Amino acid sequence: MVSLEKIVSLAKRRGFVFQGSEIYGGLAGTWDYGPLGVLMKENIKREWWRAMLEPHVFALDSAILANSKVWEASGHVENFSDPLGEQQFNLMFKTHAGALENESATVYLRPETAQGIFINFKNVVDAFHPKLAFGIAQIGKAFRNEITPRNFLFRSREFEQMELEYFCEPKNADKYFSDIRTMRMKWFTSLGIKKENLQFHDYGKDELAHYAGATTDIEYRYGLSESGFSELEGIANRTDFDLKNHFPGCSWIDNEFVAREGGFVPYVIEPSVGIDRAFLAFLMDAYAEDEVGGEKRMVLKLHPKIAPVKVAVFPLVGNKENIMAKAREVFDTLRKDFTTRWDDIGNIGKRYRRQDEIGTPWCVTIDYQTLEDSTVTIRDRDTAKQERVEVKELLQYIQDRLK
Ligand code: GAP
Repeated sequence: MVSLEKIVSLAKRRGFVFQGSEIYGGLAGTWDYGPLGVLMKENIKREWWRAMLEPHVFALDSAILANSKVWEASGHVENFSDPLGEQQFNLMFKTHAGALENESATVYLRPETAQGIFINFKNVVDAFHPKLAFGIAQIGKAFRNEITPRNFLFRSREFEQMELEYFCEPKNADKYFSDIRTMRMKWFTSLGIKKENLQFHDYGKDELAHYAGATTDIEYRYGLSESGFSELEGIANRTDFDLKNHFPGCSWIDNEFVAREGGFVPYVIEPSVGIDRAFLAFLMDAYAEDEVGGEKRMVLKLHPKIAPVKVAVFPLVGNKENIMAKAREVFDTLRKDFTTRWDDIGNIGKRYRRQDEIGTPWCVTIDYQTLEDSTVTIRDRDTAKQERVEVKELLQYIQDRLK
């Protein structure tokens, strides 16, 4: 397993992730995503939405700041704390809305995106009239005043979550819990994370959060704990805890929703994953040091869907006008469909190394033969094998492999 130090150094050197406020000595628990980090994070989000947005799952983007009553009702004001010596330390960031800094102006930065979903439950039901079971999904920032932020992106104070709240009949909750647990594990392996680096951890009754009926974590082998495994994603059966708390006395739920649905408040199954932890797992899992053509290299074997750059275009010689013109033509065609990079500096071997380090799955070289027969070489990152492909087939070639 690659060390965290190597990943932190690669992330900075190649423009994936930088320390927050670095030039002022940093701000603990904050990280800035660089140009490649942004692209990769967007890919992770896109794949998550793709997996989530079934016809009966609705998207939401709720506000980070919420009325403080939200956090009283949810139990976070009372329970979301870490024991710190004698004192209980609440992990929520507190600020004030408006000019007055008194109690009544207190607002919290959300420590989870989930509550934004629960407080919009009625809005979504009224607008779309969905039948159970249905879900509401959201991606967004969350903030926790962690006492000891550490281990790079693993535990920070500002991070991003991808959460689905899946509402169902209580009698079906165990089945959906089990289905979602399986579906989420498959999501990680289908995007290239090695099976042996993932495991489930089922919680005992004494380990459960204040809202949860049952919880399973998907753990990744980050190498940060004694067993090597730590939480990547949490999957919880939150029962009817949140809906009951937000609709006091459940007047709307009892009188309208429950009557309509046949006499119960829905249970909710929640898979919740930190994007930053997923990002770190994808990076660590993809990292490899191997040898091609007798030369050592460092390579990120990222799944092509996650890789920030899909294809790089190299003119064989950077000073020959006709080769440059042909290469530009290929570049302009590819960049309409894929994130494409141009590199005409140094020998081809060096250019391959640079793309290997950022995980680019394919490199296309335009050479003298291209001018004669309109073929290019396309080189595969993982095998370092090269094939000659006709320029007009290039788009399809890459599209087929991205599927
Ligand atoms: N809504 C449920 C919830 O927030 P959680 O287990 O506290 O549950 C869910 O958080 C996920 O958010 C975790 O599995 C982890 O991936 C991510 N996460 C939590 N705290 C984090 C932190 N301080 N830094 C980075 N990611 C964090």
